[in-house]
Amino acid sequence: MPSPSPSPPSLSPLTLTAYIYILLLYIYIYIYSTPPFYSGYFFLSLLPSSSSFMAPPAQEVQPSSTPINDEQPPFSKSRVTVIGSGNWGSVASKLIASNTLTLPSFHDEVRMWVFEETLPSGEKLTEVINRTNENVKYLPGIKLGRNVVADPDLENAVKDANMLVFVTPHQFMEGICRSLVGKVREDVEAISLIKGMEVKMEGPCMISTLISQQLGLNCCVLMGANIANEIAVEKFSEATVGYKGNREIAEKWVQLFNTPYFMVTAVQDVEGVELCGTLKNVVAIAAGFVDGLEMGNNTKAAIMRIGLREMKAFSKLLFSSVKDSTFFESCGVADLITTCLGGRNRKVAEAFAKNGGKRSFDELEAEMLRGQKLQGVSTAKELYEVLSHRGWLELFPLFATVHEICIGRLPPSAIVEHFGRKPKFTLPI
Ligand SMILES: NC(=O)c1ccc[n+]([C@@H]2O[C@H](COP(=O)([O-])OP(=O)(O)OC[C@H]3O[C@@H](n4cnc5c(N)ncnc54)[C@H](O)[C@@H]3O)[C@@H](O)[C@H]2O)c1
Repeated sequence: MPSPSPSPPSLSPLTLTAYIYILLLYIYIYIYSTPPFYSGYFFLSLLPSSSSFMAPPAQEVQPSSTPINDEQPPFSKSRVTVIGSGNWGSVASKLIASNTLTLPSFHDEVRMWVFEETLPSGEKLTEVINRTNENVKYLPGIKLGRNVVADPDLENAVKDANMLVFVTPHQFMEGICRSLVGKVREDVEAISLIKGMEVKMEGPCMISTLISQQLGLNCCVLMGANIANEIAVEKFSEATVGYKGNREIAEKWVQLFNTPYFMVTAVQDVEGVELCGTLKNVVAIAAGFVDGLEMGNNTKAAIMRIGLREMKAFSKLLFSSVKDSTFFESCGVADLITTCLGGRNRKVAEAFAKNGGKRSFDELEAEMLRGQKLQGVSTAKELYEVLSHRGWLELFPLFATVHEICIGRLPPSAIVEHFGRKPKFTLPI
């Protein structure tokens, strides 16, 4: 009889347990010593972007004056600075500050650069914000979060940040960028919440492009149906992040802004998103004229539709990469609707038309907005320069007419007079 083959040596339960422990120890050491796993952010980034899903329990807020250690490991937590502290700048700081407290991949503290002003009380705005935790001039009655630190020194505010949020009126951006050259970290990422454009000799320059070119960094954008005062009191709204190529960076911005009442989506169309946010302010001026002349809801809806059509056509003429679907995101039709119903551009344009165009926009802005800035009038002027330079004035009668009314060349009633006639050329949409 053949002898039975020898059975394999069996492991005792104790040896088996020891092997399993050693294996687990190897896996643990490998994961926590290898980037990008190091910071744990990799695992968070695998989760859906809703911050409510991702949020771990709140951490203790660190004292705002904690000195910053320059020798940080390469995958340390991100530091955020908000450049701008107006109405939207303050609300953006509040949103971000509520998230940095709970997301482990961000430092708690959010620096907010403040264009320093002396208040009627004689105090500096920055000092009052840091004492009361409120921007008493641009967002009174709303606590920003104990981890928001107002800083009047631009260079100091940005020096340690690797995430910069730009949110000032667009007319100040050229100067701000100039003073930031060589002052920001090399690994810095930026996002612009600014609606507007610069017109240069070579053509229109979007604000995110200005930031990218002057500072040599990547810049995403965030736009949407976002009237700041409504978000300040946590009423639900949506926003769109536009990015160029790096989805991971876009997700990080989504994480930083997203809250249960502020739902952020990312789309790969930075130009489309930014142009929507910029151009809708011009349509809102037209809507304000219609309101001031009491032309009614049908006319206002017509102006919004024609305006959306011109927004889309202009964006596509400038950048063939702009996607149709972007106009259905929050940055598109939703922002257009909210701005034409409730924004400051509509409000001041209504007053302009009520006064028969006899009081200038500058005068009305100073009286009605108390330091806040109108974007639509200056954007209409910049847009007009682009249209006339390229021979496109006839293609965009609404955009062109808004500017001509703003400068007093046409009466406010002209806003509807062009549309009885057909444009000479077909818009590319
Ligand atoms: N307010 C909104 O509801 C809203 C919503 C979405 C987007 N935005 C956009 O956000 C951007 C910022 O608007 P906002 O509402 O925060 O500002 P704002 O109009 O409320 O305030 C004006 C800001 O400009 C600052 N300022 C004045 N002079 C300056 C100078 N010389 N240099 C630098 N800064 C100066 C003021 O200190 C103040 O912070 C704009 O592009 C706007 O279109 C605003």
